[in-house]
Amino acid sequence: MDIFLGIVVLQEIKPCPELIWFATNECNLSCIYCCNNSNSESPNELSTEEAKGLIRQVAEFSKYFVIIGGEPLLRDDLFELVDYAHELSLPCSLITKGTILSEEWAEEAANRDLLVNIALDGLTPDMCDRLSRTDGTYHKTRKAIDICLKAGILQGITSTLMKPNAKETLDLMDFAAGLGVEGCWMSLRPLGRGLETYRELALTGPGYEEYLQSFYHRANEIRKKTELNFYVYDPIYCRVLHQHGNDTYNICGLGSYLNVNANGDVIACLFADLKVGNIREKSLKEIWSEVTANSFFNEIHDPKNLKGACGECTYNLICGGCRARAYQLTGDWFAADPACYYTTANG
Ligand SMILES: C[S@@+](CC[C@H](N)C(=O)[O-])C[C@H]1O[C@@H](n2cnc3c(N)ncnc32)[C@H](O)[C@@H]1O
Ligand code: SF4
Ligand code: SF4
Repeated sequence: MDIFLGIVVLQEIKPCPELIWFATNECNLSCIYCCNNSNSESPNELSTEEAKGLIRQVAEFSKYFVIIGGEPLLRDDLFELVDYAHELSLPCSLITKGTILSEEWAEEAANRDLLVNIALDGLTPDMCDRLSRTDGTYHKTRKAIDICLKAGILQGITSTLMKPNAKETLDLMDFAAGLGVEGCWMSLRPLGRGLETYRELALTGPGYEEYLQSFYHRANEIRKKTELNFYVYDPIYCRVLHQHGNDTYNICGLGSYLNVNANGDVIACLFADLKVGNIREKSLKEIWSEVTANSFFNEIHDPKNLKGACGECTYNLICGGCRARAYQLTGDWFAADPACYYTTANG
C-alpha cells in the first residue's frame, strides 16, 4: 500500500516476475548477432553504488535477478553485487559465454550458490569462432562448461538460433542433455547487430517451421529419457507446442517484466527497442507502475488488435507473434510477425 500526498492509495504494486540487468556493455567477443551491440566500451555504466541501488529496488518487488551483458564477468564488482542481492534474499543467476571463466572464479561462484548459464552457439570451433568473430571461443566455452559442471553451478545452456547453426543447435540439445542440463534457444531477433544481420541470418517461414518441428520432436525424445526441458524462447514455439497438444500460454514478455541496460535505461522487453525510463531519473518502482498502468501493454497482448496473418490466426491467443520482431522489421507493433510460416505463406 502506498501513501500519496496524504491519500491512501489502495494499490499494491504488481510483482515483476524477473528483472534482467545488462551489467555492462563491454565484451571480449563481438558476435555478429549481438542484440546489445556489445564491444570494448561501456560508456556511462552504473557504478557499484548505483547497481546496489538497483538491486535494492529489484528485491522489493521482483523475485529473480538475471545478470547478462556484455560479458558480466568483466565487472570487477560482480561478486560484491551478487552478495548484496543474496543479503536481500534476491536469488540471481547469470549468462556468459564463459571464455574468461576460470576454476578460481567458479569456486567463488559456487561458494555463493550463483548459478551460471553458458551460451554455446554450436558444436564446432568453425561455427562458434565465426559467429563470435573471435578465434578460440568454442574451446574456451567448452572448457567453461566443464569447469562449471565440476563446480556444480551449471544451470543450463543457451544458444542463439540462426540459419548457419540450425543443424548444430539440434545436436546441441543432445549434448546439453548428456551433461544433465536444460536448454533455452533464442531465435535471432532483429536488434543491435542482429538487426544488421537479420535478413542474411534469420531462420524464417518454412525453414523456421521445419526447424521448430524438429526441435519439438527432439525435445520430446530427450524428455522421455531425462525429464529435461528444452524450449525455444519465441511465441511461435508456443503455437507449435499447442498444436502438439501441450498446455501452453503466450510467453511474449513485452511489458510483463523489465530489463535494465548498462547505463540505467529501462526497456520493456529484451528484444524491443522500447525505453520506458532510466533508473537515474526515476525509481524502478515508479517506472514499473507506469508500465503496468499503460494501456499499450494491454492492447499489444489483445489478439483483436493484431493485423494481417496474426490478426486472423486461430492461434493468436497462445502465440500472437513476437511483437518486438514485428515492430523492428515493419515499424508497426501490431503487424503480423514476419518470421512466421503463416505470415510468409499468406504473402
Ligand atoms: C546479450 S547476451 C549477454 C550474455 C553473454 N555475453 C552471452 O553472449 O551469453 C545474452 C543472450 O542473448 C542472446 N542474444 C544475443 N543477441 C541476440 C539476438 N540478436 N537475438 C536473440 N538472442 C540474442 C544470446 O543467446 C545470449 O546468450
Ligand atoms: S552476444 Fe554476448 S558474447 Fe556475443 S558480443 Fe553480445 S554480449 Fe558479447
Ligand atoms: S500467424 Fe501470428 S499468431 Fe499465428 S502462429 Fe504465426 S506468429 Fe503466431
